[in-house]
Amino acid sequence: MDILFNNNRPFIEGVSVDEITKSFSTPLYIYSQKEIEKAYNNLKENLGVEIFYAVKANSNLAILKLLNNCGAGSDTVSAGEIQRSIKAGFNPNKIIYEGVGKSKEDIEYAIINNIRLINAESLNELILINKIAKNLNKTVSIGVRLNPDIDSLTLSKISTGKKTDKFGIPINELNNIISAMDSLNNIKLKGLSCHVGSQISEMIIFEKVFNTMKEAASLSISKGINIEYVDLGGGFAVNYNKNINDLNVKEIGRLTSSIFKDIPYKISFEPGRYLVAKAGIIITKILNIKKNGGINFIITDAGMHTLIRPAMYNSVHHIDALDQSSNKKINYTIAGPICESSDILAKDIVLSEQKENNFLFIHDTGAYGAAMASNYNSRGLPNELLINEDKYSIIHAEEKTSDIIARDLIPDWL
Ligand code: LLP
Repeated sequence: MDILFNNNRPFIEGVSVDEITKSFSTPLYIYSQKEIEKAYNNLKENLGVEIFYAVKANSNLAILKLLNNCGAGSDTVSAGEIQRSIKAGFNPNKIIYEGVGKSKEDIEYAIINNIRLINAESLNELILINKIAKNLNKTVSIGVRLNPDIDSLTLSKISTGKKTDKFGIPINELNNIISAMDSLNNIKLKGLSCHVGSQISEMIIFEKVFNTMKEAASLSISKGINIEYVDLGGGFAVNYNKNINDLNVKEIGRLTSSIFKDIPYKISFEPGRYLVAKAGIIITKILNIKKNGGINFIITDAGMHTLIRPAMYNSVHHIDALDQSSNKKINYTIAGPICESSDILAKDIVLSEQKENNFLFIHDTGAYGAAMASNYNSRGLPNELLINEDKYSIIHAEEKTSDIIARDLIPDWL
């Protein structure tokens, strides 16, 4: 998201950052509505197919409502995400549900709410969905999530499409699945889907996925299955480092239209990160500045409880300072307040000399930021704010420590 300067003072869209830092405690998540709309419209224009937003990236109701208003569908991985999507106004026919661990209750919830497709990730699950559908006296539209055994050349922690990953049904078992459909009378196979990983930046991976899914759809059709939907997953890479380009989605659009020509089904994508990552920023306050072992540590009130990505994936998020007035440049390591050595937000970055109570910006935190935040060290979740031109509104109210403690119960024998 762009921070704009007007008379040397920072603004997000039309809202003064000074006003925000005076009005709200930190750490604080801020999202720009314009950035989310821009990302959605860019994808839609270049891909020209249905886009299901992967709710897991940022499941806040206001963000969901905004993407629903843009025209997106919703890609969910739990009954909770289905519930959120319905509450945010998504038409159930624009909700799809997948996930490697679905409970009986989750499946029932999805069926009762008449969502478009439940994507099964194993034969056992297909049998379970059929049984539940039968008990509910319904015929349910389903898809199967295939595991195409494609290495997405991304971090192993976010790779999902190799045969050794837990996700999906091995693609060479598709024939068996199709045969099994004969005896599963309460489910109707209408879709195929896959998602091979996140932060995919190589066009060749998309090409492999598209070709493999096209073959799988052709095979299914040749066996008499009426495939209506083929979902090609998400995983569009976002450039967090400012020095490489974002994924070329125009190129992906060209690739899909050349591969999926004259097909009797609809194709779709389910991106999360691409739609929201760049629309988010964290404002954090400097609690302390200290030197240990020759390293200049800035200790901030945001940490791995606010944004776990650096600690978990060694992700790099660009960080800069609100106050850049000093000409003295210093090499800093930015660390959170959590009692773990891995609570480092950025190593070795150069900033103008800082002092306590200054504010820092952690960029590109709209995806997998707040959604993965925790209460570790009994710290409450932060406020989240949505900015739309010169308006702003809290879209998630901060959680106080007392709210967290109130959920613990002491048994009467203690
Ligand atoms: N579809 C499925 C089935 C998925 O599992 C995911 C992400 C997506 C779509 C959306 O992927 P995206 O377009 O956002 O890359 N917490 C990690 C990312 C985990 C992604 C999990 N699955 C991170 O912070 O990088």
